[in-house]
Amino acid sequence: MCGIVGYIGNKPVYDILINGLKKLEYRGYDSAGIMLYDKTSVIKKSKGKVADLESLFTNKEDKKGSVGIGHTRWATHGPPNQINSHPHVSNSGEISLVHNGIIENYHSIKSVLLKKGYVFESDTDSEVLVNLIEDIKKSKKIKLGKAVYYALKQVVGAYAIAVFDSTNPNEIVTAKLGSPLAIGIGKSEYYIGSDPSPFLEFTKRCIYLNDHEMAIINLKKGLTLREIKEDSILDPFIEELEHDIEEVEKGGYDHFMLKEIFEQPQSIKDTFRGRLISASTPIKISSIEKHFDKFKSAKRIIFISCGTSWHAGLLAEYYFEELLRIPVEVEYASEFRYRNPIINKGDIVIPISQSGETADTLAAIKMAKEKGAFLYGICNVVGSTIARETHTGVYTHAGSEIGVASTKAFSCQISLLLLMALDIGKRLGTIEESRYKRVIKELAIIPQILEKVLSKSKHIENVSENFLDAANFLYLGRGYQFPIALEGALKLKEISYIHAEGYPAAEMKHGPIALIDESMPIVVIATKKGHYHKIVSNVLEIKARGGQIIAIVSEGDTEIKKLADHVIEIPNCDELIAPILANIPLQLLSYYIANKKGCNVDQPRNLAKSVTVE
Ligand code: G6P
Repeated sequence: MCGIVGYIGNKPVYDILINGLKKLEYRGYDSAGIMLYDKTSVIKKSKGKVADLESLFTNKEDKKGSVGIGHTRWATHGPPNQINSHPHVSNSGEISLVHNGIIENYHSIKSVLLKKGYVFESDTDSEVLVNLIEDIKKSKKIKLGKAVYYALKQVVGAYAIAVFDSTNPNEIVTAKLGSPLAIGIGKSEYYIGSDPSPFLEFTKRCIYLNDHEMAIINLKKGLTLREIKEDSILDPFIEELEHDIEEVEKGGYDHFMLKEIFEQPQSIKDTFRGRLISASTPIKISSIEKHFDKFKSAKRIIFISCGTSWHAGLLAEYYFEELLRIPVEVEYASEFRYRNPIINKGDIVIPISQSGETADTLAAIKMAKEKGAFLYGICNVVGSTIARETHTGVYTHAGSEIGVASTKAFSCQISLLLLMALDIGKRLGTIEESRYKRVIKELAIIPQILEKVLSKSKHIENVSENFLDAANFLYLGRGYQFPIALEGALKLKEISYIHAEGYPAAEMKHGPIALIDESMPIVVIATKKGHYHKIVSNVLEIKARGGQIIAIVSEGDTEIKKLADHVIEIPNCDELIAPILANIPLQLLSYYIANKKGCNVDQPRNLAKSVTVE
């Protein structure tokens, strides 16, 4: 986790670093720090947000300089306090470093350094790394770049680093393994970021470092790219980014999360662009077309992912089994990677990830690959590690998602998974033509239908007012709506800190029913078709015990309306599409509850957007 930034050039560096860190705060926000150099290094660090760090710069003199590095942290080693914050500085005070990742063998390196007389202030692995670099540099009498190279050869773990040496202030050295790192190329200036958002407003020319690569960025000599394992010089590949700066701004909304919820009609349009052109043209997903033989002969499909993306995988299980008639399993990547799972020839493993950087998902991919599976990745972030580590795949194209709680990325994942299942099912002949046509027709207009759901936001805000003091919530759904119940509960607990559980509605009687009394709000997803009448019975059981019911129903419902305390209607649609719609009011309900409780909706405590550690 964590976000790193850097700049070397001719502009004042302070604002570039501070604004860059604010754009990266979604990656971690328990402490922050920067180092700026102008004849001497100034380092300031603070527990808390980047805004807390800013308040330390009361003196204009401290803001000077046109080279510097910065960091926003999600604590791994040691509590979030000023001392453990980055940048970390070597014992001589000359070398400073920011690091995103984990150095697994830092203990053994630290004992060697301790014996040599090095002292450590913090509990971090990163302080060990900066002193290892210094030790190598001084003992071998070599330049910073070479010293970083030798240090990284000793290191086990993951890193994206930026290193600065005040004895040669024309240079910053960066390297990557596991954690992401992008370099923006300007005119005689270079930007560094965990993603390009810190420098998008200045340049769209970008180099994404690959694993085991390091870049020595020297103002006079330019950028030199090296492969660490081979110790060879590489030709940098400069990409022209297509991102828009507006994508990473709030655009008039109070929070990124709210903006992203309202962007969903457009995001799904982007997901479908070129793939679902109209209800009467065949679906076109080029990676499926190209690798259809793999799906045709597949004995089993395994979805692997974490968090919200795991819920997308769970819904995909329902879609794929129903429409493809191929056995499907859904696995938490963190469990799968350590379970020695049985993977047979002909198995397709489909990792799903918004960021494309989640460490557990990545490790599960590597393991499945070694065991011979065919890896078909579903990612949102273009060029991310997961996108590169899989054999092929498809992007969700949801656009940048900044709010830590995933909203539009999830809607795009599930819409795309349904589209994939329809496409493969049609090609396999496992879906009836009439059903296929009916669903495609509705999918093609889903952005308009979602606008209609979003137009109910005021009503949902009013409903939310009743639950600001709730201590617990239960979310119930059946069939296709069960994964949505889980996702609704996750959204609420992530951002409002209210304890919430999602359950298959029928399982309620096997435990959670014991919790129901007048103080327990229960969200019931009870859209028409599917298991509607069974859900009505569950609602009656809740009512008999005094629970407060918030029901998500299809327009025109009369039965549940009579029983529920609060009703939120969504348009009538095919049961395959209903989960995509039902999820939206649940996102809004969580948002309004959390916001009215005064929680930090975009950056909930203890969480991070991209979890690049185990
Ligand atoms: C973190 C985020 C979640 C996300 C999960 C998986 O926990 O806070 O919102 O669902 O990681 O991330 P991925 O990027 O792989 O979808």
